[in-house]
Amino acid sequence: MKKKIIFTTPIYHNMNNIFLSILLFTLSLFSFSAYTNINHYNPLFKSQNIFDQHTYSNYLVISTNHLHLDLIVNFENNTITGVARHQMSKSNTSKAIFDIKNLNIQKITLGKEIEIETTFTIGKNDKIKGAPLIVNIKPGTEYINIYYQTNKENEALDWLEPELTAGKKYPYLYTQGQAILTRSWIPVQDTPMNRITYSADIKVPKNLLALMSAENPKEKNPNGKYHFEMKQAIPSYLIALVVGDIKYTPLGKFSGVYSEPELSKQCKYEFVDIPKMIKTAENLYGNYQWDQFDIVILPYSFPFGGMENPRLTFANPTLIAGDRSSISVIAHELAHSWSGNLVTNATWNDFWLNEGFTVYFENRIMEAMYGKEIADINAVIEFQDLLTSIEDIEKSEHPEDSRLKLELDNRDPDDGMTDIAYVKGAFFLRTLESIAGRNKFDKFLQGYFNSYAFKTITTESFIQYLNKNLLEPNKITFNTNEWIYGKGLPENCIKINSKRLNKMENWAQEINSGGKVFKNKKIKRSDFVTQEWLVFIRKLSSELNIKTLNQIDVQLKFSSKANDAIKSQWFILNVNAGNKKIRPYLEKYLIKIGRRWYIESIYKSLMESRLIDDQKFAKETFNKAKKGYHYISKNTIEKIVN
Ligand code: BES
Ligand code: ZN
Repeated sequence: MKKKIIFTTPIYHNMNNIFLSILLFTLSLFSFSAYTNINHYNPLFKSQNIFDQHTYSNYLVISTNHLHLDLIVNFENNTITGVARHQMSKSNTSKAIFDIKNLNIQKITLGKEIEIETTFTIGKNDKIKGAPLIVNIKPGTEYINIYYQTNKENEALDWLEPELTAGKKYPYLYTQGQAILTRSWIPVQDTPMNRITYSADIKVPKNLLALMSAENPKEKNPNGKYHFEMKQAIPSYLIALVVGDIKYTPLGKFSGVYSEPELSKQCKYEFVDIPKMIKTAENLYGNYQWDQFDIVILPYSFPFGGMENPRLTFANPTLIAGDRSSISVIAHELAHSWSGNLVTNATWNDFWLNEGFTVYFENRIMEAMYGKEIADINAVIEFQDLLTSIEDIEKSEHPEDSRLKLELDNRDPDDGMTDIAYVKGAFFLRTLESIAGRNKFDKFLQGYFNSYAFKTITTESFIQYLNKNLLEPNKITFNTNEWIYGKGLPENCIKINSKRLNKMENWAQEINSGGKVFKNKKIKRSDFVTQEWLVFIRKLSSELNIKTLNQIDVQLKFSSKANDAIKSQWFILNVNAGNKKIRPYLEKYLIKIGRRWYIESIYKSLMESRLIDDQKFAKETFNKAKKGYHYISKNTIEKIVN
């Protein structure tokens, strides 16, 4: 809160000297070269105030270096109780400010061997950011121990009854920290601008295994106690925990899958390519820095396809499609081990630096592993998504959200999770690559990952780095500012084409204009890959008559037998077309699956449907389904159906 005042009002001369020098020193640590930036194009650049708007913490004055967690996970009352022990940087300040959201703070002590209780205050609660926890300390204080308990209001923790797991015998818990939810299960300085190492002692029920984004056990400990170490410094949003009836299946020397035992065999088949994928990624942009790359398959309520928690990617069970069609999600999360986890967006306004680079890198991994045709298929689909998103954003109350550099002050950082960061970001890099040439571009990216490893970076520092290391030395002029600070898509965006997808589009067009549905009666779902079906379905018109749709469904069994990605697309089309026949399948789907991007558009279609009772169906289904959704999906869907 303090720092906000510092930056938004021009009263530097009012600050005392000590504070000023600490501030300047810290600024230099964050390589605030951005302060002398180049940008005149950007109307948003009011004042180059680069600090994280989404934290209350005074991390520029005093910051956590190491965090030790002493926690008990209790499935009887669904709470976590314990202590967050912060080892702080040296500072002369008399207040340390942390972020909390819906946490019960029991007491706070100072010191390591001897702990002395101290006083604290909690500021006003904000719906998005939570509240500042202001701890009174002595100048020079190194250890701050916060005793706390989570409560029912929690947004990061997903507590699942046994019936919502694969085995249906044991309860399950996982956390989701990104973007600013860590503060709802740990009192922390919840900003990506500060990196910390962490360790933890976690006690869980005896028959369950605990895992973290850290060095992990390979099997259960009969006493339910687990110790964790994360020795590389990470931003707080990457602290993660999962507890359940979980078994390890190794895939390679440094990689494997954790899952409920029921799923081990399927996982082994689905993710067999992971060890090779790690090598492929290393060949592109340098060594994997996190020693181990495991994934854990969570229950269906998990709101994302994947989440790049270091050493332990969290993955959605919809990835077990039976046909390895979702392997690009793993490529994506693996790519985050460089873009995001190694080089981290400084603020959530710079989110595209995490996701745009990752989508680009993901596609390079896919190309190296499965060939250009497959990589292009993925890129074309993403591009279609991007065009739709840009249209939607233009019509929305925030048309400025189609800029790569976002302005999310006073908004939920979750609003930035759109195809702009992901796909416009990736196409910015692809366009640059096409101009610089792949060799030069790869060298540039390798240099970038090296220079900024274990650091955070702002968009502005990136632009400087780009100018200095790619554009100027190669005498390239490029409309970087238009890409980053302009709305929509610049003209020079490269075009990617896929013959295989064109074929699917043409087939759909033929059907739309009244042509015969199947010229070849023998066509089966297995004749095309998932991505081809997605394009076929999305190009079918919602004006098609219902008989035709049902004819397709009878032959290809989209509603009943297809994987969850295809089903989602198929249900959207059928809802838009007013086809009630899919409802029983759709209801089952919405109750089972919590992956936000799969269910969000279905609910939207239902609410805008031409069938009046679709709205009622959406609301009723949501009420039945919501206990199987994580807060993130619940929150999104709630806004849609109400
Ligand atoms: N880090 C994201 C998920 C995320 C972003 C969580 C912002 C919370 C806030 C993850 O890497 C991701 O992008 N997941 C995608 C994968 C897809 C693009 C391959 C998903 O879940 O769909
Ligand atoms: Zn991502």
